[in-house]
Amino acid sequence: MKLTVSNIYKNYNNTTILNNLTYSFKSDSIYVIMGENGVGKSTFLRICALIENPDAGKIIYYKQDKALKNDIETRRRITLLLPKVGIFNTSVYKNAAYGLKVRGMGKNKIKETACEALDFVGLLHKKDQNALTLSSGETQRLGIARALAFKPEFIFLDEPTASVDYKNTKLIEGIIKKLKKTTGATIIMTTHEKEQAIRVGDKILIIEDTKIRSSIVTKDK
Ligand SMILES: Nc1ncnc2c1ncn2[C@@H]1O[C@H](COP(=O)(O)OP(=O)(O)OP(=O)(O)O)[C@@H](O)[C@H]1O
Ligand SMILES: [Mg+2]
Repeated sequence: MKLTVSNIYKNYNNTTILNNLTYSFKSDSIYVIMGENGVGKSTFLRICALIENPDAGKIIYYKQDKALKNDIETRRRITLLLPKVGIFNTSVYKNAAYGLKVRGMGKNKIKETACEALDFVGLLHKKDQNALTLSSGETQRLGIARALAFKPEFIFLDEPTASVDYKNTKLIEGIIKKLKKTTGATIIMTTHEKEQAIRVGDKILIIEDTKIRSSIVTKDK
């Protein structure tokens, strides 16, 4: 799946946040968005993930070069994970399985999918623990497990390693890279850590003065 955003404008209270942004995201890539606090990174993610409308501009997802309607089916191919993952006061397993039932999945399939997702992020051994007792790093990983259980083709991660220590940050970076490799999904994430952007990104996008600019990351992978 591909995504093209074109001529995106967004204002809040007469302040221009995004001014005529145009960019195309292709599949099978990790994009890292950087920029100072308040430049509009999270706003841009919400707009791309179809959570919020721009004031003007188009957001078009493509599957095999065919433009998709921005309907429920397309939205189900997309997931946005916020920095503060919403956790329910129940087991890690039930948190991971949340939402699968709503999508009409059978009981056995839910179990298989949720356990597979927990295994992917290294939390299967904690499936019976109450999710509220997880550490911050583990909570972030649970959020990723819940998001990937839906098998999204576009994954937006807003500061997935905020307030996470070095060891868990590396673990999460590994999960993100493995996600791209095994599913071919497009991952679009934000971070304030330049080193992280270089470690995980195929492309780094910088939002500055209401505009976007990109640079290719060259490294051995
Ligand atoms: N719903 C809203 N109503 C009014 N102002 C908003 C709204 N959402 C965002 N803003 C403002 O738009 C600007 C951009 O916010 P945004 O959260 O996108 O920045 P950011 O780049 O993600 O910052 P950070 O690095 O701190 O996460 C900020 O000044 C914010 O206060
Ligand atoms: Mg933000």
